[in-house]
Amino acid sequence: MMRALDVIIKKRNGNILADSEIKFLISEFTKGSIPDYQMAAFAMAVFFKSMSGSELSALTTAMLHSGSIIDLSSIPGVSVDKHSTGGVGDKISIPLAPAVAACGVLVPMISGRGLGHTGGTLDKLESIPGFSTNVTIQQFKKQLSDIGCCLGGQTDEIAPADKKLYALRDVTGTVECIPLIASSIMSKKLAEGIQGLVLDVKYGSGAFMRDPKDAYLLAQTMVDIGTRMGTQTVARLTCMEQPIGIMAGNSLEICESIDVLKGIGPKDTTELVVELGAEMLLLSKKVSNLEDGRAQIQTVLQNGQALQKFIQIGEAQGGDMCIVDDYRLLSHSRFQKPVLASKAGFVNSMDTYMLGTAIAVLGGGREKTADTIDPSVGTEMQTRLGDYVEKGQPLCIVHSSGKNEEQAMNQIQKSFYISTEKTPIPSLLGPRITYQDLSKEFHD
Ligand code: URA
Repeated sequence: MMRALDVIIKKRNGNILADSEIKFLISEFTKGSIPDYQMAAFAMAVFFKSMSGSELSALTTAMLHSGSIIDLSSIPGVSVDKHSTGGVGDKISIPLAPAVAACGVLVPMISGRGLGHTGGTLDKLESIPGFSTNVTIQQFKKQLSDIGCCLGGQTDEIAPADKKLYALRDVTGTVECIPLIASSIMSKKLAEGIQGLVLDVKYGSGAFMRDPKDAYLLAQTMVDIGTRMGTQTVARLTCMEQPIGIMAGNSLEICESIDVLKGIGPKDTTELVVELGAEMLLLSKKVSNLEDGRAQIQTVLQNGQALQKFIQIGEAQGGDMCIVDDYRLLSHSRFQKPVLASKAGFVNSMDTYMLGTAIAVLGGGREKTADTIDPSVGTEMQTRLGDYVEKGQPLCIVHSSGKNEEQAMNQIQKSFYISTEKTPIPSLLGPRITYQDLSKEFHD
């Protein structure tokens, strides 16, 4: 008879586990027959000894099959999704999903909520009056079949093993572990029943993986898992050394997302939507190269088709889509106050993590999953990396309800590093990672 203890010891000693051992561990843990302390020991063993590509696909498969996989086979068309490892002002999914759906690709997008310094797509969407992300798998499939896109939240049916394991990792110092992060993300994404997946893996001061080398390894690991499991997967490394776009905060990001859908969004936000959209169109085979993909996405952003698709999705999910023409229908902050530069010079770097946590301090984010959020608060950047500012010039406008305003404003001011010498600005788009690019060590 298989015993959890033997599997833990085998991993602790750095040996490769058999698929059956991984399957046993995950299914017994999900049922509750393997206690938390043994699973925590296993997670720690993985933290120190890592996992091979074949072990990771077995782990992801086991977590994926701990719940339901959405069966999209009855819906004609190719389904492709995007996942971002998250950051500050990362609203990309909101304009991206309708833009890609407007090009004729199915986009079954299941997103998460904000936690800590990052916002979540679900919270942003729910700042639209009436918009519900609480959809059953049945509704999800129907909407996908009717209009080609649904923006839903994770239900209890999706990868319950990951939910349980992630909660355990959170309290046992095993979150920051690339194999466990990669299998956790991929088990949830592959449950969408998709044929293609584009990963936006962030690095920099506001990213989960600050070091580009770690972000690169995470991207490679997820591309390897996805491809081994039969889903075409491609990753882009992108920069999170400053917030994406001008707005960060729930309602504010909805306004900016609509601007992108109207073809008048900020340059960086639009560029990310175009680039990731082109990758999605390429995976779906709607286009045969990225150049054509970019052109198609730009066209639907300019001709109103992406915006129309967004309105359709919003109406199907109960949202008052009059917000598209009147942003005043979204909740607004009571106060808008500028944070001023304490000296003249170039904005050479930002502590984007601190900027993100300042939004949470204002009430716009969560410290714990059960916290409620104020959708109206956030930040509106007045400067970008590399800009020259005079002493007293606004760096950022803080939208607040008054709650913790002084603390947040101090924190924001400390997040900007201004100096007399101008340093190089990192580019937004980093390397592209496909399965073909992976080194031999991934092909074990
Ligand atoms: N996000 C996830 O979904 N899982 C992790 O392990 C880390 C980040």
